[in-house]
Amino acid sequence: MCGIIGYIGDRDGLEILKYGLKAVEYRGYDSVGYYDGRLVKDVGKVDDFLKKVKDVKVPFIAHTRWATHGKVSAENAHPHKVGKIALVHNGTIENYKALKEKLPYEWKSETDTEVIAALLDYYNEEDFLKTLEKVLPMLKGTYALAIIREGDPRIYFAKKDTPLLLGIGEGENFVASDLVAFLPYTNRYIRLEDGEYGYIERDKYVIKGRENIRPQTFEGDIKAAFKGEFPTFMLKEIHEQLDIVPQVLSVDVSEVREIFQTQEIDIIAAGTSYHAAWYLRYLTGFNVHPYVASEYPYLMREPKWVFAISQSGETIDTIKAVKQAKQKGAKVISLTNYVSSTLAALSDYVVPLNAGIEIGVAATKTFLAQLLFAHNLIGDKDIKGMKEAVRRGLEAPLFELTKPKIFFLGRGINYVLAMEGALKFKELTYVPAEAFPAGEMKHGPLSLFDKDTDVVFFLGPQGRELAKVNMEEVRARGANVHEVIFPDKYYELSATVFLQRLAHEHAVRWGKDPDKPRHLAKSVTVE
Ligand code: F6R
Repeated sequence: MCGIIGYIGDRDGLEILKYGLKAVEYRGYDSVGYYDGRLVKDVGKVDDFLKKVKDVKVPFIAHTRWATHGKVSAENAHPHKVGKIALVHNGTIENYKALKEKLPYEWKSETDTEVIAALLDYYNEEDFLKTLEKVLPMLKGTYALAIIREGDPRIYFAKKDTPLLLGIGEGENFVASDLVAFLPYTNRYIRLEDGEYGYIERDKYVIKGRENIRPQTFEGDIKAAFKGEFPTFMLKEIHEQLDIVPQVLSVDVSEVREIFQTQEIDIIAAGTSYHAAWYLRYLTGFNVHPYVASEYPYLMREPKWVFAISQSGETIDTIKAVKQAKQKGAKVISLTNYVSSTLAALSDYVVPLNAGIEIGVAATKTFLAQLLFAHNLIGDKDIKGMKEAVRRGLEAPLFELTKPKIFFLGRGINYVLAMEGALKFKELTYVPAEAFPAGEMKHGPLSLFDKDTDVVFFLGPQGRELAKVNMEEVRARGANVHEVIFPDKYYELSATVFLQRLAHEHAVRWGKDPDKPRHLAKSVTVE
């Protein structure tokens, strides 16, 4: 959940550093740093850090951090330098304490990363690929690494279970955790496989054990990686939902439709994607069972089919659950925005989400695209009707939530909206907001309701009459009820856009950055 960028070539290092760090900042943003022969790092936002950087030499490696081991501090920020080795890391090393005990170094940080630098320094050989070959198997855990060795003109890299890509240019090369980090400079890339390592030079790249590699070309719209006239990526992506309807519905799902119609399927997903799993269940009535990815290993029986939903395709919980299901003989269908992701590589069938690049940490257009996939699956492709529904969601006036207790309620498929509404709201505003099925209130939660309570009530057609009864029950306890009202036709799509705007608006009003909610990151590559 950290962002990595490394560059070797003739361009101005400062320009690449500035662009690259901003591009991967969504992956982690509690501290930042780079190594270009000089080690410079600090806590805080990329923008504040960059204001102080005057020049950057090439090659360099750089990093934005989402803390796992060790508090947010300058010492724990990356890069880490031990002896001749400087490196940046995304991932976690489980056996770092045991490794530290065996090495004769004084530790400057509390991180699990520093020990990797120490190992590489300790076993440093003339041929550094041999050093990597020796050291990497000692690491138990996950890693994407970019490494500079003093006196060596290359940038070395290694990858296991977290994403790392090479950007292949003319007389320049990049290593980064996301395509967007180098897209303005080159659209040719290689997605590294687990266990791979190697190096880049200005005119050359070497991946140990892989020869004759042909880089892929990114054909998508790179403008999506920029905010344009919108104040935040999230708001831009909320508005893009109007345009993505046709492209998402154009995906051919006929092959997987048949599987959904005839098979029993476990759906594995996390966070917002998990909510999309429930949407699919309510909408289609297919024989599917949604599971939270991190819980699935404890609940799995003998699945014949699993369906993994992940916009990033890199969520470690989802990937691990899928791997375990595969070991039990399950076949895998995945729905992801990144068809070259780790998840896609594990799958028997990959359905592209086709939502375009999403930068804002909170999933918005990728969630809507996941909902549209469910419609596509049942042959519902009313593009005009869906676009109108999205437009209604974009234009509806918002209400203001002011109470210390906030609940999101709904029945049936409206409960999915409640879950997503509460998640978006708490994630962006840091105010506790909980979702319940409206009919479940009287089994406990109702005792929480009084005049200090705001309630957002989703009143789409499914279960509406009973939901209204539940609404009166909370009103009678003094709660301040806000009804989410839209026409019945694609109510859920209008309400989805509305709940995203509601969270965004309150975050901005309360001085929070919706693009970078604290403690979170866009692709969650640690368990
Ligand atoms: C919330 C959000 C997260 C993600 C979750 C899964 O706004 O974006 O809850 O949905 O981390 O991510 P993916 O879909 O990439 O597996």
